[in-house]
Amino acid sequence: MNETIAVYPGSFDPPTLGHDDIIRRSLKLVNRLIVAVARTSTHSKSNLFDVDERVELLRTIYAGDEEIEVVAFSGLLVDFARTRAARLIIRGLRAVSDFEYEFQMALMNRSLWPEVEVIFMAPATKHTFLSSSMVREVSRLGGDVSSFVDAIVLERMQERFGESSGGASE
Ligand code: PNS
Repeated sequence: MNETIAVYPGSFDPPTLGHDDIIRRSLKLVNRLIVAVARTSTHSKSNLFDVDERVELLRTIYAGDEEIEVVAFSGLLVDFARTRAARLIIRGLRAVSDFEYEFQMALMNRSLWPEVEVIFMAPATKHTFLSSSMVREVSRLGGDVSSFVDAIVLERMQERFGESSGGASE
């Protein structure tokens, strides 16, 4: 049987349960999923974890899943996908506000590599408001993000920000 390979690219800073939801859903469609952490993201962001830490966290989370591979990539996503013979790109679409950027990116990617197809997946309703940037900010200000990230990510965030980086004191 031919392998169906997809790339699920992103910044994953940090990986959230929203990402996990999309990963689990994607595995219903493909038999190999490459979770690809971008060294160059289109959004400019303040980093929480460096790319190698994000790769390590994701590898730990998915250590038991043979269908999932976690790698970092540099340069264009389509170039990376082509070298891995992955003609499918998976992206999660949370809300209409995501659509414009995602659509633009999908069409650009397809004009760079006409053989690629982009699949937009809807997350579980409870994850539609969740974003890495919001998790970063809430955590940085001492809020509880335990229901938004995997335990290993939470532990690493607590190491970074302190167990009670509570927002009240300055
Ligand atoms: O999680 P993000 O930050 O929304 O993911 C964006 C990402 C990494 C998928 C996008 O920035 C990307 O593909 N970067 C690689 C460089 C590239 O190919 N840029 C052109 C995209 S049209």
